[in-house]
Amino acid sequence: MEEEQIERETKSLVFAVNGQRFELSSVDPSMTLLEFLRTRTPFKSVKLGCGEGGCGACIVLLSKYDPVIDHVEDLTVSSCLTLLCSVNGCAITTTEGLGNSKDGFHSIHQRFAGFHSSQCGFCTPGMCISLFGALVNAEKTDRPKPSPGFSKLTVVEAEKAIAGNLCRCTGYRSIADACKSFAADVDLEDLGLNCFWKKGENPDVKVSRLPSYDHNNEICTFPEFLKCEVKSPFLLDSQKSSWYNPDSVKELQSLLKAIKGNNGARIKLVAGNTGMGYYKDLQQYDKYINLCHVPELSIIGKDRTGIEIGATVTISKAIKALKTEANGEILSESEMVFKKIAVQMEKIASQFVRNTGSVGGNLMMAQRKCFPSDIATILLAAGSFVNIITDTMHEKLSLEDFLERPPLDSEIILTSVKIPKWEPIKNESSEKDCKILFETYRAAPRPLGNALPYLNAAFLAEVCRWKSSGEIALNKCMLAFGAYGTKHSIRARKVEEFLTGKKLTLDVLYESIKLVGASVVPEDGTTSSAYRSSLAVGFLFDFLGPLIDNVAKISNHWLDNHGSATISTVDEVKQNYEQPDHAKVPTLLSLSKHVFEVTKEYQPVGEPVKKSGAALQASGEAIFVDDIPSPMNCLYGAFIYSTKPFAKVKSIKFKSKSLPYGVSALISFKDIPKDGENIGSKSIFGPEPLFADEMTRYAGERIALVVADTQKHADVASNLVAVHYDMENLEPPILTVEEAVKRSSFFEVPPFFYPKQVGDVSKGMAEADHKILSAKMKLGSQYYFYMENQSALALPDEDNCLVVYSSSQCPEFSHSTIARCLGLPQHNVRVITRRVGGGFGGKALKSIPVATACALAAHTLQRPVRMYLNRKTDMIMAGGRHPMEITYSVGFKYSGKITALQLDILINAGISPDISPAMPHNMVGALKKYDWGALSFDIKVCKTNHSSKSAMRGPGETQASLIAEAVIEHVASTLSMDVDSVRSINLHTHDSLKMFYVSSGEALEYSLTSMWDKIAMSSSLNHRTEVVKEFNRNNVWQKRGISRVPVVHEVIVRPTPGKVGILSDGSVIVEVGGIELGQGLWTKVKQMAAFALSAIKCDGGVELLDKIRVIQSDTLSLIQGGFTSGSTTSESSCEAVRLSCKTLVERLTPLKERLQVQMGSVTWEMLISQAYLEALNLSASSFFVPDLNSMQYLNYGAAVTVEKQVEVNLLTGETTFLRSDIIYDCGKSLNPAVDLGQIEGAFVQGIGFLMLEDYTTNSDGLVVADSTWSYKIPTIDTIPKQINVEIHNSGHHKNRVLSSKACGEPPLLLAASVYFAAQAAIKEAREQMFSWGCRDQPAFNFQVPAIMPIVKELCGLDCVERYLKWKIGSETSPELY
Ligand SMILES: Cc1cc2nc3c(=O)[nH]c(=O)nc-3n(C[C@H](O)[C@H](O)[C@H](O)COP(=O)(O)OP(=O)(O)OC[C@H]3O[C@@H](n4cnc5c(N)ncnc54)[C@H](O)[C@@H]3O)c2cc1C
Ligand code: FES
Ligand code: FES
Repeated sequence: MEEEQIERETKSLVFAVNGQRFELSSVDPSMTLLEFLRTRTPFKSVKLGCGEGGCGACIVLLSKYDPVIDHVEDLTVSSCLTLLCSVNGCAITTTEGLGNSKDGFHSIHQRFAGFHSSQCGFCTPGMCISLFGALVNAEKTDRPKPSPGFSKLTVVEAEKAIAGNLCRCTGYRSIADACKSFAADVDLEDLGLNCFWKKGENPDVKVSRLPSYDHNNEICTFPEFLKCEVKSPFLLDSQKSSWYNPDSVKELQSLLKAIKGNNGARIKLVAGNTGMGYYKDLQQYDKYINLCHVPELSIIGKDRTGIEIGATVTISKAIKALKTEANGEILSESEMVFKKIAVQMEKIASQFVRNTGSVGGNLMMAQRKCFPSDIATILLAAGSFVNIITDTMHEKLSLEDFLERPPLDSEIILTSVKIPKWEPIKNESSEKDCKILFETYRAAPRPLGNALPYLNAAFLAEVCRWKSSGEIALNKCMLAFGAYGTKHSIRARKVEEFLTGKKLTLDVLYESIKLVGASVVPEDGTTSSAYRSSLAVGFLFDFLGPLIDNVAKISNHWLDNHGSATISTVDEVKQNYEQPDHAKVPTLLSLSKHVFEVTKEYQPVGEPVKKSGAALQASGEAIFVDDIPSPMNCLYGAFIYSTKPFAKVKSIKFKSKSLPYGVSALISFKDIPKDGENIGSKSIFGPEPLFADEMTRYAGERIALVVADTQKHADVASNLVAVHYDMENLEPPILTVEEAVKRSSFFEVPPFFYPKQVGDVSKGMAEADHKILSAKMKLGSQYYFYMENQSALALPDEDNCLVVYSSSQCPEFSHSTIARCLGLPQHNVRVITRRVGGGFGGKALKSIPVATACALAAHTLQRPVRMYLNRKTDMIMAGGRHPMEITYSVGFKYSGKITALQLDILINAGISPDISPAMPHNMVGALKKYDWGALSFDIKVCKTNHSSKSAMRGPGETQASLIAEAVIEHVASTLSMDVDSVRSINLHTHDSLKMFYVSSGEALEYSLTSMWDKIAMSSSLNHRTEVVKEFNRNNVWQKRGISRVPVVHEVIVRPTPGKVGILSDGSVIVEVGGIELGQGLWTKVKQMAAFALSAIKCDGGVELLDKIRVIQSDTLSLIQGGFTSGSTTSESSCEAVRLSCKTLVERLTPLKERLQVQMGSVTWEMLISQAYLEALNLSASSFFVPDLNSMQYLNYGAAVTVEKQVEVNLLTGETTFLRSDIIYDCGKSLNPAVDLGQIEGAFVQGIGFLMLEDYTTNSDGLVVADSTWSYKIPTIDTIPKQINVEIHNSGHHKNRVLSSKACGEPPLLLAASVYFAAQAAIKEAREQMFSWGCRDQPAFNFQVPAIMPIVKELCGLDCVERYLKWKIGSETSPELY
């Protein structure tokens, strides 16, 4: 068939979004659904977090209608990867479609708000849709009707629904609670703090208070009008869109032939298009061919010979098919193989990727592009075949041959994959039983998926057991390994040959694992290479070990406990598989406890009121900078950054002769106006240039800005720029702190910022019984990973003015930087910030160059210019937490009492001062949490050729607190003492506290010691320590640890402005210097305004809280806004508002008293309307300047608070956090719900820093962990299974704002308890190795983050080999476990 003929059958693209019909006659086929929704519709709830399927911010519900069976299929999909043309005839539901502020919020929105599940709100719309998708699909099951108010969803499904969604703020527990509140099997009493009920209330009351959910009244996901249209199938006009929908293999082949003949047009074959998440489409294609309408490619056939899965069958559908039993009564080994394949497939990506990603697409990525596929490995071990077509040739070949061929041509089509049926082996001899065993393995940073594995494996073996001797032999086996840094999944043939026909003994096992270690070797350049090989060993040991173990335990049901019940009696297995999933899989999180006291004194301050705007965030109506509609003529920017750390920039040119499509300009330092200055940000310590000039000084430095007509064109064009560098005759860059020391490259720390030494260290050392001298440790960086990337929109205004919308924690500084860069007086610039989608310090100084570059481009081109950084650029430029190297010497007594600590710290600050000179101050503040006797330090802030490091939540304090704990651990292990006792001995008394801190406060305020004891009680520390010991005695391959750490964290309250205005209807507007970043600042400010204005005491019971609106920050409306940072901005903003309200109350009181005399009763509205008539000034502003003597104070409890249990898997290095108990002193909390969220969120972010997030760079210092693929923040499956939080109310603090204390950052430091509990478990593993006679273990070094390869390395990469060697040599029983 000719190309033209195919095109004639087509028409427009028709689909629905939230019930609204869209018809497009021509479409750019590369346009994603996300791009369309965000730029062409009013629906802005689909957020761009990563653009690569890794975060879930962009999820929508995609519904397809099958008119033949009158069935609607509802799938969650990532709109950032879904091509618009592929949604032809589909309906899309976004969170706006569920409900909104005008028509009423959906119960999902209301419950998210009521369970305090939203902080910055950027992830919330995606979370809501993930939950909605799970609800819709649960209702389609034939499970029993749930009780009113609930759904058919189970608790496990509710938690798993959000497993692919990232949230950087909340720590997930509160989100999981909102989701679980819909589950039929939930016990509402298990759910955490919420606005609906109080703990212990009657279950019926609780249900009645929950915003109602009734499936029958749910929104229709597929509108009737579209059903009618879909009934007569229609296809998209290929001519106009270059998008083809062939509906048979024949047509597909003709099309390929026709297009190929067409001057070598570039073709893209598309199934789910999720491959784009990994292999970004940097080139443009001429033609897109959608494979999903070809019936031959979408078959699923199950028969006697096995199961055939069409190439375009989605992974979700394949899982379903593999789990569906055949009609036969008896569950065969094959069915079990299929089910295990399905279970492994459930760990691929996330539900919303599996819903569109196809099995064939995955295998083709593995074949053509060496993608580290899980599917290839599991199917390889199952002996699968593939069918491909080349021109008119059909070919069937083994999966192994398919993978080993050179990359297939782009016209070759994979049609299907066949997994053969593994028949039960006939036991021909009565002397032995034979069985098939199949097992799959995967070691990845996230247990539930959404992370590529370090290695995957699948093993199939035919084993026989002699009845007389109980000996077991392997008749044959297929051992597949993949994703370990190999071109494709492989069979370990040598190992297979060695094992085939062998009787399994310890010696055979030992030899086989040695062979595996030698066969599974990553290619050069693969990270954690030795670790990956050791995983292969561990997995084979796990597979074969139980078979040897069973030598001693022969029963009729032999191998019952193999692996995860590989072979059991038929009845047992059947029962196992017949249970719904939720019964087999335990919930991810268990019940958490929250303890806090509500203070009545300052109502509504002190109450756990829900977050201001939370429902709006859930419904997607909350507006972030990039949601502001683009003005006419708007242009878009994308940065070009340097890849060299120190070089002359010879030229910046586009690779092509002409400007790439859509590009208007290339802005560089040369465009800075002559009265302006090349400045991109500034702090009190100095400026940073906006763009590199002739020299670039670090990899990742901004060199220029491409400006184009769309963000996509700007991003594409930025990749088409060639920068020519010249490094001749230049000194080598300074890339290490050692080199910085050698070349004396430091930033000066102003003397008033440099902390003071405490006591006499020489004397302390002289008093010591023991000394540790010059011990070393290193700490790495951490990326902010706010969900909303850096963004700004600059609009030229009249008379050389500019309005800039910026997602910033410090608009005042953006404002002054922009003015200085453009050479304008500051009154020409206005910076507006409404809300920020997560900051954590990264939207402070680091947001300024983004706003400034937009402003420069807008000013130069006199057109609006906006920019939303893509995740990669954002990660490369962000800077992040300060890495450092520490050398310490410590003196101590036999008792464990430390007498002196001396530290030399080299901080890698990067190229610009940023806030780095403040680091010594921050660090020493947190370091002093113990009574060291005497403390001296030399802290150097090194200037290096790296991106400048900036403040990240707990900057300096986080590292210092960890260093202090490392010292304590070292002392304890030197003395062979219990580390918890060493901590207790060295805790401050109030007297020693006074010696170390000028801000120590009154003795009564020192709540640390009482909390230290309290947490021991509430967490049953002693009992659990014993349980851990018992566990460790009884388990060889899993070890547990427990750790309690204190935190003392000093904060500074800074001057902050506030302004309150009362409008004529009695509603109130509030402006504050602080920015709402998700930390609940607006909520606390509203509570404070309501409290302060209530001093007027009007009649009529008006709920003032509902009358107050906090409005966006505008640098011309409220000046001197300062920084939102350091945990104290909420309280200082509250105080500024209290002062403004006080002024208003003073103005209104005489009037109120007069009216009361006249009328008896005065309502709020009456008072205000009379005040308007009498021309009272109803606007008041204030500037809160804290008292010099009390502006600095100490926070505890972050300190005292944690007790942890951790389980480490010695075969994989995987760490599971079982439980954390936190107690934190919030003073009189301004809002316990908000503070609880801050504590949990900070704690989980701390876990990320210490255990998961590896922010790596290449040898030039360019960040290589630059995507959701390579950088793993915590997810719902990597947080502690139980987090108990107690907010300690330490009573009256006369110098604090309504007696409250800060909590934004200090709890992050508590995550050290997780880290040291893991270290304790690792030490157990090492002691065990020692008992096996291994005296030559590698040194025990603290390494952060303790990611899986590090943990495994510390536990012994060769622990299995050593164990077996010991076992073989030992004379004891041959049992393995
Ligand atoms: C966030 C994320 C996480 C992931 N995690 C994992 C993981 O942990 N483990 C894992 O194994 N995979 C993982 N994947 C990969 C995922 O399984 C694949 O992206 C998906 O299966 C590809 O299918 P698709 O239909 O989207 O293919 P597409 O993206 O449409 O196509 C992929 C490639 O294959 C070609 N192609 C597709 N079908 C055919 C065919 N029938 N014949 C010839 N060529 C064809 C296309 O032209 C394209 O080049 C992940 C993907 C994402 C986005
Ligand atoms: S933006 Fe689509 S998954 Fe992250
Ligand atoms: S609330 Fe989840 S990312 Fe901020």
